[in-house]
Amino acid sequence: MPVRIVLNEDEIPRQWYNLAADLPTPLQPPLGPDGNPISPDMLSPVFPMNLIEQEVSQERWIDIPEEVLEILYRWRPSPLHRAVYLEKALGTPAKIYYKNESLSPAGSHKPNTAVPQAWYNKQFGIKKLTTETGAGQWGSALAFSCALLGLECKIFMVRISFDQKPFRKVMRQTWGGKCIASPSSETQAGRAILEKMPDTPGSLGIAISEAVEAAVTDPTGQTRYSLGSVLNHVMLHQTIIGLEAKKQLAKIGENKVDVVIGCAGGGSNFAGLAFPFVADKIHGANIDIIPVEPTSCPTMTRAPFAYDHGDTAKMTPLLPMHSLGHDFIPPPIHAGGLRYHGMAPLVSQAIVEGLLSPQAIPQVECYESAILFARTEGIIIAPETSHAVASVIREANKAKEEGKEKVILFNLSGHGLMDLAGYEKFFAGQLQDYHLPEEEMAKSLAAIAGLPKPSTQKTGKW
Ligand SMILES: Cc1ncc(COP(=O)(O)O)c(C=O)c1O
Repeated sequence: MPVRIVLNEDEIPRQWYNLAADLPTPLQPPLGPDGNPISPDMLSPVFPMNLIEQEVSQERWIDIPEEVLEILYRWRPSPLHRAVYLEKALGTPAKIYYKNESLSPAGSHKPNTAVPQAWYNKQFGIKKLTTETGAGQWGSALAFSCALLGLECKIFMVRISFDQKPFRKVMRQTWGGKCIASPSSETQAGRAILEKMPDTPGSLGIAISEAVEAAVTDPTGQTRYSLGSVLNHVMLHQTIIGLEAKKQLAKIGENKVDVVIGCAGGGSNFAGLAFPFVADKIHGANIDIIPVEPTSCPTMTRAPFAYDHGDTAKMTPLLPMHSLGHDFIPPPIHAGGLRYHGMAPLVSQAIVEGLLSPQAIPQVECYESAILFARTEGIIIAPETSHAVASVIREANKAKEEGKEKVILFNLSGHGLMDLAGYEKFFAGQLQDYHLPEEEMAKSLAAIAGLPKPSTQKTGKW
């Protein structure tokens, strides 16, 4: 029985898959401050036009440039593993497979989009990228990609993660990226927040405001902003994960997947694995597709599908997404990459349509699952990834109760070797579960009450 299924370089997918082409109810457009759909031109101070074209594309397949593939070959195709040791420990009849995205140089799936984003920016004549980072994985990935492509990189890192993960900063420095804690005094958005809340742990929403401001106010015009999740082109670049997985499963004669699982912060690693399977579901396959989030930041399971800003200072257009409100400051749980108030519009629209079954899981169960995984499969996973593993264990136990030999596929989005502070707290008994109280949620949702509402129309097929 193979435990590690690999592809050769020449078997790598040469096109990305765009779910927007197949969604049964169309993706709704981003809106400007006047409530009207924004034109691609309006995004041009923030992103280069070649990426804006991908953002609005309705093409089903988009070619991956040869030079991008050449960089991806450094770690791709990533292996597909069969988790036989975890299966045995659980005594489940289910077959569990995972894509190992922890093997990229930065340690997660994030370089799958950081490399093409840096490449497209460079093609457009851009010299410097700004970005935000939560857990630190995205900032590392962009610093790595900018180093390979000769671009400058400036990263606003959410304060709580900056303090919890000092070595992430050193990783970025090693790749030549500049990193500061957010909120910072370098931007108007940061200064305004610090005045109101000097001790804030920060949030991805605040860091995004700072990074966008730093890009659009650069007088040379040669700086753009880069986002590690949420946007359509980011989901697109990540689909290489699911497309490889399909080839790998076919190689071992595994023709039917029953359950697909990924953790979801802004939605990109989940979408990357799941969207090619969502396409199968749209065309009739019977698959449970589960994005997993923390109970402390319940965007998909409790928040409304609404138009909201992607950032706290309201610099971004209004996006149609599940959102806890742009002012939401999530509690400082250790899965920093899952502390975002919104969810990718493509993932949100698929939820509205009924194609996905989101789950929320508390953090103690996630750490227990991560430890079982480390002691069976051997890999110390990122705290974000532990949400996927906790859900896999629930599904594998369900298969055991039902006596069904289900095939479960999940995305191992990153390793946790830079996140050991969370593990240390868990072993010291200092980690608690947190269920977001209804009153807290109502408070942050008040910020979006007056904004336009997207349609929640669905075909009703799922
Ligand atoms: C390892 C890992 N997994 C998952 C995520 C969540 O992001 P996304 O939902 O975009 O995949 C992050 C974000 O930082 C991460 O570092």
